[in-house]
Amino acid sequence: MGLSLSDDVDRLTFAGGNAGTAQIGENLPFGPGDLDAIADYVQEVKPPLTVVGPEQPLVDGLVDRLDGYPVLGSSAAAARLEGDKAFAVGFMQRHHIPCPDSLIVDRPDDVYFGPDAQSYVLKASGLAGGKGVILPETHEEAVQALHGMLSGELFGEAGERVVVQQRLHGPEVSLFAVSDGKDYVILPPAQDHKRLYDGDQGPNTGGMGAYAPVPADFLSGDQWQKAYDIVDRTIAGARADDMPYKGILYVGLMFAEECGGDPVVIEYNCRFGDPEAQVVLPTLDTSVHGIFESAAHGHLDRSVAGKQLGAKAAALTICLAAPGYPASPQKGSRIHGLERTYDDVTIQHGSTKLGSDNSIVTAGGRVLYVTGMGKNLQTASQRAQAAIGGDAIHFDGMQHRTDIGRQVF
Ligand code: AMP
Ligand code: GLY
Repeated sequence: MGLSLSDDVDRLTFAGGNAGTAQIGENLPFGPGDLDAIADYVQEVKPPLTVVGPEQPLVDGLVDRLDGYPVLGSSAAAARLEGDKAFAVGFMQRHHIPCPDSLIVDRPDDVYFGPDAQSYVLKASGLAGGKGVILPETHEEAVQALHGMLSGELFGEAGERVVVQQRLHGPEVSLFAVSDGKDYVILPPAQDHKRLYDGDQGPNTGGMGAYAPVPADFLSGDQWQKAYDIVDRTIAGARADDMPYKGILYVGLMFAEECGGDPVVIEYNCRFGDPEAQVVLPTLDTSVHGIFESAAHGHLDRSVAGKQLGAKAAALTICLAAPGYPASPQKGSRIHGLERTYDDVTIQHGSTKLGSDNSIVTAGGRVLYVTGMGKNLQTASQRAQAAIGGDAIHFDGMQHRTDIGRQVF
């Protein structure tokens, strides 16, 4: 998840599902997602800090099992903000947090789509690996998607309850906070690029690139303040609901034209974003370790509590995706160019594995992230681009965007 970027993150233990299990430099006695073994390990070895990264183990209650140990990650109750979108809508309504008009749908007859299908969004209420959101183009597509979700065909159990939302329009910003359950610190904001092709065209993906920080003048002071207020209400609301939010909160905001440019919560995640983590963490002008450790101990460092952290540099990441991604990524291609080093560039592996001759091959949809750092976004972008294609990093059929961050420089 791109967490190797910061100087001090290699002192952390990353535990969880997917690719997120690793204490760098050490062979761990458990595999990804093996929660029993992870819990045993933490109880026995007592690492000074454990960060539970991905959503599934958070939703499955790994952090609750490790109560009393220095663990950063939300409880299963708080992780429902990501794992149960119908619950999240209720939470936002209860705490006066702006979200799109939403209808919770359990049966096909619960909703009637008007002729303009493009005014709706359908979301699987449960966890669907980042693929559970459908933006239908036609009435027929909307109806089919609804049936496919409710029947379990599209997303299994996760889609058997659907949140149908009003479709809003406007720029999106990803805002992250780290909280000890009471106090919190806001990290530099990032922008993700979800569509596959340049110019925000093509299908939605897990994220084809990101940059941070979002320049202050991208939004007005009033818009930023309203965004920060949403974070504040979320942390306070979770506390009021007896599920204090101790962990990493991701608030996906849209500054919706329909709401006069005010921020609206499009999604909550209980973790860092991918690919936002790749760009937010290395830009921090404060120790990531200090923030995580103090929050895990339940007393966020006083020097950062209540602040919006600044960025010491700009970072921009470009995802190199497999041919056929997102529908049906082709795997097994040899990746070239990884033996070289590139100035001010870090490569994070998404879906790769060792091939038979010890070469590194593609193993899934989002293969690698190439992250450039610089004093500004333009430089960061140039550095990342210089490491891609030609005699730099490439593989057969590689797909990537060339316009990440271009809306701001
Ligand atoms: P998610 O998988 O929740 O990150 O959603 C994927 C993307 O779908 C978001 O980043 C938005 O671009 C889009 N989206 C989700 N909900 C809405 C909405 N209510 N209106 C417009 N776009 C949305
Ligand atoms: N970049 C969006 C996510 O991680 O869900």
